[in-house]
Amino acid sequence: MIMKPGIRKLALIVHIVSSVGSLGAVAAFLALAVAGLSSENDRLVRSAYVATDVLARVVVVPLVLASLLSGLVQSLGTKWGLFRHYWVLAKLLLTLLVAVVLLLQVKGIVYVAVESLESPVSNTDLLDLRRSLVVHAAGGLVVLLVTTALSVCKPRGMTRYGWRRHHPPPAGRT
Ligand code: HEM
Repeated sequence: MIMKPGIRKLALIVHIVSSVGSLGAVAAFLALAVAGLSSENDRLVRSAYVATDVLARVVVVPLVLASLLSGLVQSLGTKWGLFRHYWVLAKLLLTLLVAVVLLLQVKGIVYVAVESLESPVSNTDLLDLRRSLVVHAAGGLVVLLVTTALSVCKPRGMTRYGWRRHHPPPAGRT
């Protein structure tokens, strides 16, 4: 069902704010995770991990899910469709990847925050988990930058399904 122009504008604003907002929030998360991993100052390390926990649960997860949902609305409610153009399909798969990896990381993020609240974190404590936060945030940021570029450039290229929808066979031919 194609959206009316006013509703479409509103839905596009929600989509852009949530999607590009999620990129900014992941960048902030990465900065905190790097500070937590590299700082020598115990108080800074502990507060960085408490902040990553709040940021991830209250901002990053809701924004990524809102971006996914509003992206589905943009696709299904406009001529773009969900499976017609490679750039839309690529954005769907990349955003799904980001959402799944993020949700799998939440347990570890909460664990590091609770541990750093309870006792000082030395440089070697929970090292694998703390490194994994940096690596996953950096990866997520790169993927979100790619989806933003795809959105603005909208590279040509239709899927076979999109091609068939765009060029239906002449009447009488199957
Ligand atoms: C975090 C990931 C995403 C980012 C950063 C993002 C970013 C954007 C931006 C900036 C635009 C505006 C482009 C313009 O008007 O020129 C846009 C439009 C669009 N997005 Fe996304 N998006 C994301 C996820 C998704 C997903 C998951 C889908 C599909 C399921 C999607 C489908 C669309 C469609 C169809 C439009 C075109 C809307 C129109 O022109 O009417 N997006 N996106």
